[in-house]
Amino acid sequence: MSGSSPEWLALREPADQQARSEVLTWQLSEHFAGRNEVSVIDLGCGAGSNLRGTAGWLPDRQSWLLVDYDPELLVAARQRLTGWADESRADGRRLILRKGTKALEVDFAQADLKEEMEALLAQAPDLVTASALFDLVSEPWLDTFTAALTAARIPLYTVLSYDGQQSWAPPHRLDAAVVAAFNDHQRTDKGFGPAAGAEAASGLGRRLTDAGFRVSTASSPWLLGAGDHELMSELAGGIATAAQETHAVSAEEAEEWLSERQRAAGASIGHTDLLAIP
Ligand SMILES: C[S@@+](CC[C@H](N)C(=O)[O-])C[C@H]1O[C@@H](n2cnc3c(N)ncnc32)[C@H](O)[C@@H]1O
Repeated sequence: MSGSSPEWLALREPADQQARSEVLTWQLSEHFAGRNEVSVIDLGCGAGSNLRGTAGWLPDRQSWLLVDYDPELLVAARQRLTGWADESRADGRRLILRKGTKALEVDFAQADLKEEMEALLAQAPDLVTASALFDLVSEPWLDTFTAALTAARIPLYTVLSYDGQQSWAPPHRLDAAVVAAFNDHQRTDKGFGPAAGAEAASGLGRRLTDAGFRVSTASSPWLLGAGDHELMSELAGGIATAAQETHAVSAEEAEEWLSERQRAAGASIGHTDLLAIP
């Protein structure tokens, strides 16, 4: 299962939805209270999990543009959203959905955010959002992104940026070394230049505060236990592979850690959610 395969995104979605900070979703909801409609761009949409987690907190009429560079994920998003909605129909490339009281028009764009983010934000939506994206981007990209949000005065709501904190139960002697190596790997190039990794949410918050936004952040850890064995096992596999690639832990150490972690009783994986209002 790869880092952004439809199967991995489907496996992590329940943990993602449960982890989101309710404090920030209430603040988001309050910001748009009194409005009937809202336009939203979701950056790095994957299979559409962020729309499913956010739509319930926004006004009743919503138009969404879901952006990803992976055509397979855009197809998965269309299928998953069709299954999720109470009613759905296609209108050319767009989906027209009803979910409870919400009426959604959903369009899809295949675009590389490294090159095309500013053109997308020039559409001046009412909200830009993203889930599990910002740890992949680079520090210079965050500068350009902040400038584009500031110029167009667009609010940002982003969830589930990995923050570098992990704890596994029961503890293992290699936990600290493996997590440190994994966090180093998170800073390698993920397509935007050297990645912001675990510093992404704090760096983004700092930039937006300096640019005059009102920024709220909240922790949104995955709290995994008995019912999450498959997710913990897949996650541990990805962590062990990345840690070993840094050469800071040996293949034998990564293997030993992984075989213990595939029997883990629980794990807490730290994330940060952020809401920035211009
Ligand atoms: C960890 S996944 C999160 C997906 C989705 N937001 C979710 O929460 O399930 C990161 C997403 O960013 C997309 N992505 C990564 N780099 C990108 C780029 N340069 N341009 C567009 N999308 C990108 C990936 O294809 C993937 O869908």
